[in-house]
Amino acid sequence: MQYLVTPESTAEIAADCLVAPVWKEGRLSEDASALDKAVSGALSHIAASGDYLWNVGDKHLLHGPSGCAAARILLAGAGDPNEFGAMEAAKFLSGSVQSALAGNMPHVHFALSDLAVDGRAPDWLAARLAQEAEVASYRYETTKANTKREAVLDRLTVPALGENPGQALRRGAAIGKGMNRARQLGNLPGNICTPEFLAEHARELADDFAAVSVEVLDEAQMKKLQMDCLLSVAAGSVEEARLIVLRYGGAADDRKPVVLVGKGITFDTGGISLKPGLTMDEMKFDMCGAASVLGTVAAAAELQLPINLIGMVAAAENMPGGKATKPGDIVTTMSGKTVEILNTDAEGRLVLCDALTYAERFDPACVIDIATLTGAAVATFGHHANVVLGNDQELIDSLLQCGRNSLDRAWQLPLWDDYQKQLDSNFADMANIGGKRAGTITAACFLSRYTEKFTWAHLDIAGSAWHSEAASKGATGRPVPLLMEYLLHLTDKD
Ligand code: BES
Ligand code: MN
Ligand code: ZN
Repeated sequence: MQYLVTPESTAEIAADCLVAPVWKEGRLSEDASALDKAVSGALSHIAASGDYLWNVGDKHLLHGPSGCAAARILLAGAGDPNEFGAMEAAKFLSGSVQSALAGNMPHVHFALSDLAVDGRAPDWLAARLAQEAEVASYRYETTKANTKREAVLDRLTVPALGENPGQALRRGAAIGKGMNRARQLGNLPGNICTPEFLAEHARELADDFAAVSVEVLDEAQMKKLQMDCLLSVAAGSVEEARLIVLRYGGAADDRKPVVLVGKGITFDTGGISLKPGLTMDEMKFDMCGAASVLGTVAAAAELQLPINLIGMVAAAENMPGGKATKPGDIVTTMSGKTVEILNTDAEGRLVLCDALTYAERFDPACVIDIATLTGAAVATFGHHANVVLGNDQELIDSLLQCGRNSLDRAWQLPLWDDYQKQLDSNFADMANIGGKRAGTITAACFLSRYTEKFTWAHLDIAGSAWHSEAASKGATGRPVPLLMEYLLHLTDKD
């Protein structure tokens, strides 16, 4: 898809469609008013008709307007200008892009020059438009025989919004593409998207970007590093575990890297502590943390961000089997601490703890792990919030702010010492589960024991990473927007 900033006046743009915002009660935006004059009042006529309330989402399509170069004009409701915040703007943009896609209009121009979004710089709108356009254009078709490709959107133009609309468009598009990469990996079934498939994907990613290199550890290499805890998760599966390390070097070598660690359970049956059958298929999404790491590394590399970034993926398949880990088994982690595995379904923390210990060697500026870790996060927050916990309030505050900025919001839970004793074990240094209560917190407590040497935050994305409802079932690409906002904010500080 091409994104362009055009200096032409709206009426002169020979697009397949011009999107013209209309405020409530049919008041035309400035751009729309100028266009209205060129088309002899055709827009104000419709806007004033009373047919629509012009709420965000209301639309009217005008074919073959005379007086302008475009083939169509889409009047798009923007609601109350005093309530036009980032959420409303995002909804307005995605709705308009979807209409353009549905109507087979490859080149769309957005007449948005006077559209002020409460609390946002003008070029935010350009960035968000490109992000929404990418996200709306994604279709899952890999495993469908008949994928008659519907209409495509291939050219999107905007007027000169803000200081650097070109850069804003590039940033938004990179984030959208990063989300789509994460969505695609998430949506692929467990029999295709295996740990080795993720490793191969990472190798291809490293081939695509000169500043990215990759290292993949196999089971023998992990065994040497004494990652018995990670390996215990893969013990019941014929698919070998992989530890994937992507390095993106965008800054001087002596700059400490941000390290992202993704949970990459390519299918989570629960192991011997087998999950119930209903909706078990959704456990193919249990590698969405890993997918968000791959999407974020790709987006950061595409934008050539002046930072150092390491993306790690702890990939394994959690299966029952003759060699599978059993409840009560005790394993030794790479750190030397022992774990009594009371429930083989609490496997995410078992792969993450060894990956986190491995992360120490990178002398990180901070480590953020991203994991579909607990059903309790879904029970508490539904599908809306990322959950954040960690050992550094400044990092957590920063992630919360980045969540608000990117509309990929997070909410903090407490990591109080009081919860730690729920992990006590009579037979090992700790148990891998903390009982019925506060499951999201005790999972983070477990991880906190492997993150004492660095600044760390944990994102539990069990709720936010995918939609379960039949019609919209699929991976969301979250929290790529939040992570990218965080990385972009690091570059702005320089
Ligand atoms: N991958 C699941 C978490 C999950 C469950 C995400 C449902 C989304 C929806 C994780 O591996 C898991 O099974 N967690 C257990 C932990 C429990 C055994 C302590 C859970 O949350 O039930
Ligand atoms: Mn599990
Ligand atoms: Zn899991």
